[in-house]
Amino acid sequence: MGKHSGVFILFPVLALVIFSGCARSQASTTSLGVAEPPRGAAILQRACTVCHNLDGLNAYADSWGQTEWRSMIGTMISYGAVVTPAEVDVLSEYLAVNYGTGVLGATDNADMAALIDSACTTCHGLDLLTTNTAGFTGANFRETVVRMIQYGAPVPEDQVEPMVEYLVETYGG
Ligand code: HEC
Ligand code: HEC
Repeated sequence: MGKHSGVFILFPVLALVIFSGCARSQASTTSLGVAEPPRGAAILQRACTVCHNLDGLNAYADSWGQTEWRSMIGTMISYGAVVTPAEVDVLSEYLAVNYGTGVLGATDNADMAALIDSACTTCHGLDLLTTNTAGFTGANFRETVVRMIQYGAPVPEDQVEPMVEYLVETYGG
């Protein structure tokens, strides 16, 4: 009789432990979902830890601003990283602030050449810029760049006009 009641007591205790365990893990999932991390950090974790860890990012803390990071993201996209053009904006800013000089925006000609080199060479060579742009004005280059973005070229929105200017200067006339 004593043995039997011991078994009966054990069941409710186990049930209580299992049940409260479930309740606890459910609660922590919910609170994680509410406390959303910064978007840049989320994109970095999702898109940039597929092939390597993030240790290599620290090497550029003293030298890279948003433009350099943007160009590096372009290189990684050509390797297969999955980042949308809108996410490139967010992520490059996040990297400039957290793994770089904090310098945002500002694009000079060398940076634009690097962006074109990374964003425009995955489908065809840059020779098209000389062979297929006879008589191109700014409007023609803008139409081309917008079409290339629709095809998948990772050009951030705020770089379209600087790129058009650069293309007119370099390949126009
Ligand atoms: C499809 C695989 C792949 C993905 C995804 C990827 N990378 Fe890379 N990454 C590489 C390879 C391969 C190298 C080494 C070759 C090189 O440096 O060009 C590299 C090198 C780097 C380096 C240079 C490290 C060093 O030690 O100098 C940085 C910085 C970097 N990646 C950042 C990123 C960022 C930021 C992302 C997310 C946007 C990303 N990577 C996503 C493949 C990838
Ligand atoms: C996802 C593939 C892809 C990427 C990335 C890409 N292009 Fe293109 N590009 C094409 C295709 C395909 C054509 C052929 C014309 C067409 O089908 O519209 C083309 C044609 C061109 C031409 C010929 C003139 C014209 O208007 O058709 C130029 C110049 C050009 N691309 C420039 C660029 C630039 C600049 C970039 C980077 C911003 C770029 N491309 C990135 C696919 C791409």
